[in-house]
Amino acid sequence: MSTVELICTCAEETESIGEIFGRLLPAGARIDCIGELGAGKTTFARGVLRGLGHPDPRELCSPTFALHHRYEGGRLVFNHMDLYRVSSSAALVHQGVLEPLDEPESLALVEWPETLPDEMAPPAVRVHLGHTPDQRRLLHLELGRGVPNGVFAELEAYAHKRI
Ligand SMILES: Nc1ncnc2c1ncn2[C@@H]1O[C@H](COP(=O)(O)OP(=O)(O)O)[C@@H](O)[C@H]1O
Ligand SMILES: [Mg+2]
Repeated sequence: MSTVELICTCAEETESIGEIFGRLLPAGARIDCIGELGAGKTTFARGVLRGLGHPDPRELCSPTFALHHRYEGGRLVFNHMDLYRVSSSAALVHQGVLEPLDEPESLALVEWPETLPDEMAPPAVRVHLGHTPDQRRLLHLELGRGVPNGVFAELEAYAHKRI
């Protein structure tokens, strides 16, 4: 596993990092987004949808109440989940909430993944988002072995552009 840390100064920058993953991650990959309310998890997800080439990524909104939204029309289906309101992993399993994560030819992103059952495979990418004291965002990215090299190259190019 490799780790990368980036500062994002505005929502568009958070989105542009998500976009890299939408463009380059293979089918079956899952991204877990961790961070307090307002950290930018849904913004990152919107970038992923844009990277998948979805015709209208602005359509993406938080599935806090529905738990799950499914988007077609991009390179892969995008399954976006928000488990904020889920109290236990047993509830997730019994209610079948996790079934979209098994869909073939799809990419998944989970906000509030803390309640996922321990026995689940680790995600391809884990993103920790946090506020900086000046209201920017620090993104700490953990990239698993299945992440294509192109992702590293693009993250590096982004970091250089910002300096
Ligand atoms: N890098 C950033 N700098 C400043 N504001 C940001 C940044 N990324 C996202 N935001 C803003 O933060 C707010 C909360 O984002 P959101 O994605 O809804 O958070 P979450 O899903 O973690 O609750 C939005 O208004 C969004 O535009
Ligand atoms: Mg959200």
